[in-house]
Amino acid sequence: MSVLWLMTGLLLLRFCAPGFSIVGGNVSVPHSRPYMVYIRDPVSERVCGGFLIKEDFVMTAAHCGRHLVVYLGVNDTKLLPDSVAVHPIPHPEFYRNTPGYDIMLLKLKTPATLNETVNTITLPKTENGEILKDCMVMGWGLEEYGHGSPSRVLKEANVTLIDSKNCVTNDTLCSEGTTGTAEGDSGGALVCGDVAQGIVSYYNESNGEYRTRYTHISKYLLWIHHILLGILNCWA
Ligand SMILES: *[C@@H]1O[C@H](CO)[C@@H](O)[C@H](O)[C@H]1NC(C)=O
Ligand SMILES: *[C@@H]1O[C@H](CO)[C@@H](O)[C@H](O)[C@H]1NC(C)=O
Ligand SMILES: *[C@@H]1O[C@H](CO)[C@@H](O)[C@H](O)[C@H]1NC(C)=O
Ligand SMILES: *[C@@H]1O[C@H](CO)[C@@H](O)[C@H](O)[C@H]1NC(C)=O
Ligand SMILES: *[C@@H]1O[C@H](CO)[C@@H](O)[C@H](O)[C@H]1NC(C)=O
Ligand SMILES: *[C@@H]1O[C@H](CO)[C@@H](O)[C@H](O)[C@H]1NC(C)=O
Repeated sequence: MSVLWLMTGLLLLRFCAPGFSIVGGNVSVPHSRPYMVYIRDPVSERVCGGFLIKEDFVMTAAHCGRHLVVYLGVNDTKLLPDSVAVHPIPHPEFYRNTPGYDIMLLKLKTPATLNETVNTITLPKTENGEILKDCMVMGWGLEEYGHGSPSRVLKEANVTLIDSKNCVTNDTLCSEGTTGTAEGDSGGALVCGDVAQGIVSYYNESNGEYRTRYTHISKYLLWIHHILLGILNCWA
């Protein structure tokens, strides 16, 4: 047990560093994923993805850091619109280099005006609803695993979920294959049907096979709703 945890810790150390594009896949039609948000730490310049779930809330991974700004309706990351300031609300039980709870809400200090290029995505309605296995991931991260450069434009790839019994913790979904997310894609959405079911968390690799883990959003619905309704708000 302790060995697994140590190994997992090392994997997290290695792969949770944001800075995590899509390998393979295709360039998305510009603005066709209006919920996707580009997130940056203005000091370290590390980047993550995120997605708009309400006019004033973005969902992302807790390991993406705390001093962040978000950009809405992005097509080209070299031509960014004005940034939006946010208040970070990481899950209180998230600890760096420990698996699980890799979920964070960012409260926008100025709510977004929804339009054709900026819009929300639906979250799961219940904790144990059925999830389609054919899903999609997207981001502006690296185009090769572990090296290469980030993509200027949003890319997307199809992924197939594997049996969640083969995931490390009970709050994750996993996919396997040779295409998918890489550094810089952390925090982005795993979309199955038209619903955001997961948050890109990290991946491990052996012999050219990759397994990506996603925070399973439906396991956190209660916490999410408390934050959205303002019950646990502490930024006032
Ligand atoms: C998507 O990318 C694959 C290879 O990754 C390519 O074969 C396919 O033609 C592309 N599809 C579109 C619509 O560009
Ligand atoms: C998106 O950005 C790419 C790369 O700069 C550019 O070629 C394309 O025309 C842009 N599309 C839109 C709709 O802005
Ligand atoms: C959509 O709203 C964003 C800000 O929320 C703005 O930057 C963008 O120009 C708007 N786009 C359109 C087509 O009105
Ligand atoms: C994903 O799969 C759908 C349906 O099979 C297909 O239309 C689409 O082009 C695929 N997208 C990518 C990025 O491979
Ligand atoms: C995962 O399982 C543990 C132990 O069974 C439980 O305490 C925890 O609440 C579960 N977490 C989630 C997100 O379901
Ligand atoms: C990823 O790690 C898990 C254990 O944490 C292991 O079972 C799996 O085989 C690994 N997958 C790859 C592709 O390395």
